[in-house]
Amino acid sequence: MPISARDNTWILETEHTAYVLGLNTAGALVHAYWGERLPGAADYPEPPDSIFHASFTGPGHMWPEEYAGLTGLKYVEPALTVTFADGVRDLVLGFERAEVDGEHLVVHLRDAHYPLRVELHYRTHVAHDLIERWAVIGNDGAPLTIERAFSAQWQAPIGRSYRLSYLSGRWIEEFQLHRQPLSPGVFVRESRRLTTSHHASPWFTLDDGATEEHGEVWFGALAWSGNWKLAAEVTDFGRTRLSLGINDWDFAWRLGSGERFTTPASVGGYTRDGFGAASRALHAHVRDAVLPHGRSPHKVLYNSWEATTFAVDVDSQTRLAELAAAMGIELFVMDDGWFQGRNSDDAGLGDWWPDPKKFPDGLKPLIDRVNALGMDFGLWLEPEMVNPNSDLYRAHPEWVIHFPTRARTESRNQLILNLARVDVQDYLIDVIDRLLAAHNITFIKWDMNRNVSEPGWPEAGERQREIWVRYVEGLYRVWGTLRERHPNVVWQSCSGGGGRADLGILRLADQIWASDNTDALSRLHIQHGFSQMLPAAAMEAWVTDVNASRISLEFRFHVAMQGVLGIGGNLLHWSEAERARAAKLVAQYKEIRPIVQDGELYRLISPESASPYVATEYVSADRSEAVVFVFRRIGGGADAMLAGYHAIDPRQPAALKLHGLDPAARYKITGQGPARSGLAWMRAGLTVPLGHQESKILRVRRVVG
Ligand code: GLA
Repeated sequence: MPISARDNTWILETEHTAYVLGLNTAGALVHAYWGERLPGAADYPEPPDSIFHASFTGPGHMWPEEYAGLTGLKYVEPALTVTFADGVRDLVLGFERAEVDGEHLVVHLRDAHYPLRVELHYRTHVAHDLIERWAVIGNDGAPLTIERAFSAQWQAPIGRSYRLSYLSGRWIEEFQLHRQPLSPGVFVRESRRLTTSHHASPWFTLDDGATEEHGEVWFGALAWSGNWKLAAEVTDFGRTRLSLGINDWDFAWRLGSGERFTTPASVGGYTRDGFGAASRALHAHVRDAVLPHGRSPHKVLYNSWEATTFAVDVDSQTRLAELAAAMGIELFVMDDGWFQGRNSDDAGLGDWWPDPKKFPDGLKPLIDRVNALGMDFGLWLEPEMVNPNSDLYRAHPEWVIHFPTRARTESRNQLILNLARVDVQDYLIDVIDRLLAAHNITFIKWDMNRNVSEPGWPEAGERQREIWVRYVEGLYRVWGTLRERHPNVVWQSCSGGGGRADLGILRLADQIWASDNTDALSRLHIQHGFSQMLPAAAMEAWVTDVNASRISLEFRFHVAMQGVLGIGGNLLHWSEAERARAAKLVAQYKEIRPIVQDGELYRLISPESASPYVATEYVSADRSEAVVFVFRRIGGGADAMLAGYHAIDPRQPAALKLHGLDPAARYKITGQGPARSGLAWMRAGLTVPLGHQESKILRVRRVVG
């Protein structure tokens, strides 16, 4: 039984963890335990009360509430703030009842005076060791305004000092991993950009001394693709808690009588096995429960953007497609430049039909050609955007996000369609539906190349601040409807690279274009950060010509082969010999693809470490096989000097200890002599000597007998 209830205490158990909440003696719904699963119900602590401190602070400030309203002498971060119709801004949530239905617990809270109800939903994901939480706010009284409605407040055990890990960055430098100690106060990571953003990711871990494979880690993520906020708070009474949800910045939502507001879900988990296990739990969850096409392996694609930019037509694309097909590529994607009036980034967005000058007979001749070469065909779209120089904008200038008395700030010469409007949603559904219905298109790269400015929605009057949520709901509706109508299409979420990467968009998109930065060395860091939160199956990675004179084709391939492999270089500039080598690497990728895309990831040597090496290991679910990627970078100082001297660093080879193998089984590893036990490879390990800027893939195979 994953959830048990006793004396107003609820114990949520997963395979290895437990999460306990309950009513304390004052009747407040508080958090009691989050950690390793214990043998019996009686082993878990009671819901905590608080000790009187002084007349300056009330008990509600001290105890770890599951979902705090703003009331009393309580100054910690609330989960929910509202203004009632009569102007009262005080929220007194009391317990009403709770229901357990299998893996789902709903706790009903109610305001002491007003007919406002809050449902706290908890769902256990037993095999993934995760708890999923969200809240529903219902109003049966006069219209009120919600000013903040978080998804969850995650409480860490009291009396310890924690370190927070988070991802931050910017365009071409997404998913940079930071770890920093928390001190009293509130540390905020957030997006105010309408979308998830390149700048921060809705993900966290908390630890007090964990390493990659050891130690306690509490972690979580938010399934939302709009403005979000993470408030990491250490109270003046030694409690650490993380509040996570839709950003309250510039947000207000009018909740009429009989209406309900549902927050996005947040998942959280606990492990004793370090940051690696935290990532693996999220990866498994995303693969099994989030990704729309589940575990089906992604095809190797070619994308024409870096080769032809806006200059696409049947001939240029066919030339590339022929070369791509000969290399074993399975999916040919034509990027930007194919639609009405699109010769540069200053026109065309919004007019989603083929440009008659470039494609006088439509897209069909090209698609037929690509299909005849044995490849699927994919297309680039940027549905949420419009160039002022487009038929769509000329017909509907009122459809963009704007304030009537303010200039409409353009970025990349484009404005954002207001997807909060149902007419805009319907237009997009219709135009993209027709495009997909008329063509054999099986892949869409869905791009978004700017962030918001002047966030106005004039028609909504006083409800304009709902745009932050209604836009995202509109996006989900458009994308979801198209998915339903075209279930065979694979969708990629791109926002100038990794600007929209979260568990919310992955219910619609099958994969994410992690960054416009395709320099292999930068990618090692970007992919390392991405992998903290999301699995390799959701990470599209290309081999391009960026820094090709300094970084070998093999190295560039090996970096991209750690995710979903694609090629984005200009094949017309690749020599025949290079294309032949690339074809071999594509074939090798196809062999290891099930292990990379569906396997368990162990990050053996982090690119953040001082080591010149970086290494990752992917282990198949049945532990019969693994793939190890090893990279040798050139560091500074003596390293840079040595690179000019020695082919191979005489000081130290990469020393690797594998993980995740069956200790008793025997495995053979490429270039490592006779088979040894899994335990030997995990404890004694192996060494891999590599030259400067060299890389290697090792296959690990269980041997029978
Ligand atoms: C964005 C994407 C690129 C490419 C261009 C096309 O920058 O991230 O991959 O599609 O748009 O304009």
